Amino acid sequence: MTSISWTGFSKKTPQERLEHLQSNALLSPEDKTILESASLPLATANQMAEHVIGTLSLPFALAPDFQVDGSIYHLPMVTEEPSVVAAASFAAKLIKRSGGFKTHIHQRLMIGQVALYDISDKDNAHQTILTAKENLINMANQAHPSIVKRGGGARDIWCEDKEDFLIVYLSVDTQEAMGANMVNTMMEALVPDLEIMTQGKSLMAILSNYATESLVTAECTVDLRFLSRDKDQAHRLAQKMELASQLAQVDPYRATTHNKGIFNGVDALVLATGNDWRAIEAGAHAYACQDGHYRGLSQWHYDQEAQKIKGKLTLPLPIATKGGSIGLNPSVVAAHDILGNVNARTLARLIASLGLAQNFAALKALTSTGIQSGHMKLQAKSLALLAGAKEEQVPTLVKQLLQEKHLNLETAKQLLAKLS
Ligand code: HMG
Repeated sequence: MTSISWTGFSKKTPQERLEHLQSNALLSPEDKTILESASLPLATANQMAEHVIGTLSLPFALAPDFQVDGSIYHLPMVTEEPSVVAAASFAAKLIKRSGGFKTHIHQRLMIGQVALYDISDKDNAHQTILTAKENLINMANQAHPSIVKRGGGARDIWCEDKEDFLIVYLSVDTQEAMGANMVNTMMEALVPDLEIMTQGKSLMAILSNYATESLVTAECTVDLRFLSRDKDQAHRLAQKMELASQLAQVDPYRATTHNKGIFNGVDALVLATGNDWRAIEAGAHAYACQDGHYRGLSQWHYDQEAQKIKGKLTLPLPIATKGGSIGLNPSVVAAHDILGNVNARTLARLIASLGLAQNFAALKALTSTGIQSGHMKLQAKSLALLAGAKEEQVPTLVKQLLQEKHLNLETAKQLLAKLS
C-alpha cells in the first residue's frame, strides 16, 4: 500500500480537501456530491424523528492517517468544537510514528434485563430460571429468528437478587447492529413465562446501555523524542502526563474533564457513523464508576527504561454499522464509505483509538503549554465569526485577536469595529 501525503491538508479549502480524497481514491464521486451538498433531505429527516421542521448541520471533518492494528484509516469526525480535529490529527501522527494503536475486543454482546418483583420465594424462582435456561434462550431466539440466521442470537441468561427485585439478564450477539429493538423484543417475549415461573410480576423488560460485555481496549506508546526535542523536557513532560493520569483516578472533578476530552473524539466518530451517542456516553460514564468512584477512563504510564509513554483506554462500545438511521442519512453513508465500510468490531476499535489519541493530545497540551494556546488559536476563528466578521475579514481579525491578552467575544467585536 502506498502511503498518502497529508502535509498541508489543514491549509486546504474544503473543496481542495475533497479533491485530495478523491484523487487518492478515498472518496467516490457520489459521496463527494453528498458532502458538498451538506444536507439531510427534509423528507428523510421527517422519517427519522417526530414533529420535524428542519435539520441542523454540523462540521464534518477528517482526522487522517490513524494506524490501528497495522492498517491505516481516515476518521470522519462530526464536531462543533474548534481544536478537537487538530488535536486528534496531531496525536495520530505521533502515535503512528511510534508504532500505531493496538486494540483488543473483549466481547461483543448486548445485555437485556427483565426486572421482576413481588416474588415470595426468590431463591426458588432463581433456581427455576436457571433450570429453564436453554428453553428461555430458545424462546428469545424464536422472538427474533432473523438474527439467528445471521449467526447471532441469545447466548446466556443469569439472575441477580437486588433488594426488591429479581433481575433476569440475557446476553445477545447482535452482529452488526446495536440491537436495541432486537433485545427489547426478546426481553418482552420472555416476560409471560418468567412471570409464571417466578410467580412474580414484571416491572419492565428493556436493553441495558451498561454494555459491560462490549468492552474494547485501545493501547499505544509514544516515543519520548516526540514529546519534545529537548530530552530533559520530554522526560519532565512524560512524568507530568503520568501524574495527570493519576489525578484523573483520584479526583472526580478532574476525571469528568479528562473523560470529556476522550469523548471529544469518541462522540465525533460515533455521530459521524450514525450511532447512538447517548447510549455510548451513558454506558461509558457508568463504566467509569464501576468500583463506586468516578475515575478517568484512560491511564498513562511513563516507562523510563523504554523511553516511552504508554496509554490505555477501555470503553464499552456497543457500536453498529447496520440498523437504526445508519442507512438513511446520506452523510452517514459517506462516513462509512470513507472508513472502508469496516464491520462493527473494527469501528469500535477505531473509536477507542480516537478517544485515546484525543486524550493524549489534551494531556500533552495541559501539562506543557496549557490548553489555551492551542485551543484558543483555533477558537479565534469562531470568535471572529461570532463577532460578525465577514469571511474576508476573518484572517485579519484572527491575526489581531491572537495578539490580544484577553481572547473573548468583546475583544473580537472591538477589533472588528476598528476593521470595518
Ligand atoms: P501545535 O504543536 O501548535 O501544532 O499544536 P502545529 O501547528 O505544530 O501542528 C502540529 C500538527 O497538529 C499538524 O501537523 C496537524 O496534524 C495538527 P501538520 O499538518 O502541520 O504537519 N494541526 C492541525 N490539524 C488541522 N487543522 C489545524 C491544525 N493545527 C495543528 N488548524 C494543537 C496545536 C491544537 C494540535 C495542540 O495544541 C493540541 O493538541 N491541543 C489540545 C487541543 C484539545 O484537546 N482541544 C479540545 C478542546 S479542549 C477540551 O475540550 C478538552 C480538555 O478539557 C480535556 C482535558 O482536560 O483532558 C482539554
